Order: sequence, then structure tokens, then C-alpha cells
Amino acid sequence: MTTVLISGANRGIGLELARQYAADGARVIAGVRDPGAALALKAISGVEVHTLDVADEASVQAFHQAVGELPVDILIANAGVGGGRSVLGELDFDRWLQTLNVNSLGPVRLAQAFLPNVKASADKKMVAISSTLGSTSTHAGDMFAYRASKAALNNAWVGLAAALKGEGLTFLLLHPGWVKTDMGGAGAQITPAASAEGLRERIAEAGPALSGRLFAYDGEPLPW
Ligand SMILES: NC(=O)c1ccc[n+]([C@@H]2O[C@H](COP(=O)([O-])OP(=O)(O)OC[C@H]3O[C@@H](n4cnc5c(N)ncnc54)[C@H](OP(=O)(O)O)[C@@H]3O)[C@@H](O)[C@H]2O)c1
Repeated sequence: MTTVLISGANRGIGLELARQYAADGARVIAGVRDPGAALALKAISGVEVHTLDVADEASVQAFHQAVGELPVDILIANAGVGGGRSVLGELDFDRWLQTLNVNSLGPVRLAQAFLPNVKASADKKMVAISSTLGSTSTHAGDMFAYRASKAALNNAWVGLAAALKGEGLTFLLLHPGWVKTDMGGAGAQITPAASAEGLRERIAEAGPALSGRLFAYDGEPLPW
């Protein structure tokens, strides 16, 4: 049985990924900030819900202890925050730092803690949900905090791929599309279901040869 670990699975893309993987017969380990409030997630059979704040190293360690030595085939670092408007003249540097902590350091905290679990699995895949807004070459001069946080995430994931090259692991960066969630807004282009379907296809077809690469949910390679 495939084991999939997903952070930020309380709502949005993470919740839909949990739903689809569980429906597919996978064992899903979900990390959420407040399990008591994760009613939709807890209603899905085949999902184990744990407390996880990816911005807090002690919380990541406690989550790892709760999961133990269980092999994890696919780790999906999905938890993220929008970072606010973050435009020149109004930059809130404390909020920028919080955004970096969740979006850039959070996925790497998870990757470091769960590396033995992923190494011990059959699939050995670590996926970070990034964004096309993290591509430096297409920076539009807005959303400074969010863009920088995803650019730093991309850089770190390429670093992990390089550090562990030859060990059979796959570090994949995926843009989920512009998705109708609390973060993407009601005017976004695609549903969480369509995004999660595409993400799962990309994850299924990826192997070590694609480690350190950045794609959209529909398979389009994205610029750095
Ligand atoms: N929606 C889009 O159009 C879009 C586009 C590009 C990339 N993305 C990326 O896709 C991922 C999922 O986004 P989404 O649209 O599903 O967003 P969302 O609906 O706002 O959900 C974000 C999830 O992340 C969780 N989270 C936030 N901070 C956390 C922390 N410190 N520790 C653990 N969990 C935390 C939230 O938990 P709570 O429920 O407890 O608040 C929530 O479950 C994010 O990485 C985002 O940057 C989204």
C-alpha cells in the first residue's frame, strides 16, 4: 500500500489531495494545525490526522515522532500562506519573515525530518507545492513576500535533489495552477479536484531523472 504524507491538509488543495489519494486506496498521513477543526478531513476514511505547524521545528519533530519509522512513499509539502499584498511602500517585513518561515523553511523542515521515512519507502518521492509566482524571471514587481518564499523553496528543493543525488529519491516542485481555494479565491481558474488530479499524475510519472525540476500541474515545465 502506498503511504502519502500531506501537510496543510485541512482545506484547499491539501484536503483534495488527501481525499483523492485515500479514494485510490493509499494510506494518508495528514498534518494540520488544528485537528479538532479538521472535520472534512477526519470524515475521509483511510486518513490519519496529526497536529502539525510547519513553521515550528518542535511541532515538526513531534509530528515525526507520532509517525515513527513508517516508510513514506510520497511526502507532499503543501502547507502555505499567501503573505498578504506585500507591495513596495507597504512592505511588512515581520509578515515577510513569517511567510518565509511557512513557505520556504516549512517544506525543508519536513524533508529533513522525514528523510529516513522516505528513503525506507518504495517510491521515495518528496513533492513541494510551489507556485509559478516563485519564478524569478517572470517577477511582476508585486507580492514580494510570497514570490520570494516560493523562489527560496525552489532553490532549497533543487539543493536537496543535489545533496541526495544517486540515492533513488525524487524531489519534485509543482505549481498547482490557479485554484479556487481560500488562497486562490473564487475567481481562480480551476477546481481543487482538477488541480489534485493533475498533481497526482505528475507525481505518479516522476522519477529520479526529474529530480529538482519544476512543472505545472498539467505537465508544463516552468521557468526559474
Ligand atoms: N490556490 C492557488 O491558486 C495556488 C497557486 C499556487 C500555489 N499554491 C500553493 O498551494 C498550496 C496550498 O494552497 P491552497 O490554495 O490550498 O491554500 P489554502 O486553501 O489557503 O490552504 C492552506 C493550508 O495550509 C495550511 N497551513 C498554513 N500555514 C500552516 C502552517 N504553519 N503549518 C501547517 N499548515 C499550515 C492551512 O492550515 P489552516 O487550515 O489551519 O489555516 C491550510 O490548510 C500552498 O503552498 C500554496 O502556496 C496555491
